[in-house]
Amino acid sequence: MKIAIISASVRTGRNSHRVVLFFKNYIEANNLASTEVLDLHHYQFPIFEERLKFQKDPSPKTIEFAEKIRSADGIIIVTPEYNGGYPASLKNVIDLLNDDWKRKPIAISTVSAGSFGGMNVITSLQYSLWKLQAWTVPAMFPVAKVGEAYDEQGNPTDKTGTEKRAKSFINELLWCVNAKIKMEKQL
Ligand SMILES: Cc1cc2nc3c(=O)[nH]c(=O)nc-3n(C[C@H](O)[C@H](O)[C@H](O)COP(=O)(O)O)c2cc1C
Repeated sequence: MKIAIISASVRTGRNSHRVVLFFKNYIEANNLASTEVLDLHHYQFPIFEERLKFQKDPSPKTIEFAEKIRSADGIIIVTPEYNGGYPASLKNVIDLLNDDWKRKPIAISTVSAGSFGGMNVITSLQYSLWKLQAWTVPAMFPVAKVGEAYDEQGNPTDKTGTEKRAKSFINELLWCVNAKIKMEKQL
């Protein structure tokens, strides 16, 4: 099983990437799935001009990104909260791919420097993904005060508590992925 983890912050000095590293380490250490980090800071996509399917000459990195989303069994999106919403970098790739999100199980982790764990992002991001017929998983993983909660390598300050929350969050995603795989075999 392949889980892609989207790191949505492209900001210099970003901290939400710490949570990405945590998920990657946790999933691999517990042999839950293989993981691949899709780092939007690394991709540096230009501002959206048209959906991939209508682009005449898409860039190799756009094609690569799309292929990684297509081939992932499930996705974790780690997004910061910027002024009560999710960042433009994330909307940029959501709009880019369009059909590839359909029926894709997606779990959302919201991250903030403040005390509320980026919770303002949830409804707007879920709504955008729902419009594209993605299957957003009904589980949450809000991270408050991220700079204190994780070090730069993604090690949580409260290892026991964080891993307990991660276990139930990832279990929900894997349950949805497995249910989808089973259903597709029956069709
Ligand atoms: C443009 C901008 C807007 C922000 N707005 C909020 C906010 O509304 N609420 C909040 O708790 N933190 C806010 N933050 C702080 C981020 O949540 C914080 O930087 C956190 O580490 C996640 O983003 P990062 O991965 O880019 O670091 C904002 C940061 C930036 C750069």
